Amino acid sequence: MQLDRRTFLLLGAAFAAGCAAPGGGNFSGGNREKIVNAGSAAQYLADGVYARYRDLGFFLVRRGANLFALSAICTHRKCKLDAEPDKTFYCPCHGSTFDADGNVTEGPARRALPQFEISTNEKGELLVRISAV
Ligand code: FES
Repeated sequence: MQLDRRTFLLLGAAFAAGCAAPGGGNFSGGNREKIVNAGSAAQYLADGVYARYRDLGFFLVRRGANLFALSAICTHRKCKLDAEPDKTFYCPCHGSTFDADGNVTEGPARRALPQFEISTNEKGELLVRISAV
């Protein structure tokens, strides 16, 4: 069986979404987005980058009163980024770098990392809404 590029990409996205489900993701919108329960917001009080959800596609970043979710997927060709000790991000595939806000500091990537919406449920848990980038 031979797959065209579109079918291959759709199957890949569906497979990736399905693999993430046991880790706390709920899917909606035809697998174009998922919601990950990142647990109690009290876990993320100290400034820094929390990389425990990197494999699900995002970092949680605490900076003062601000907590945001930043894509962990490089905008060049979708490799997973590494969080660096200085709170920047590095792509091991082709060397792109991003600052602590997700802005490109060195290519070949050209687009900044998208942020994902965070909400809180009635238990005080963070819900991160991840969409395909
Ligand atoms: S995939 Fe990240 S620099 Fe190419």
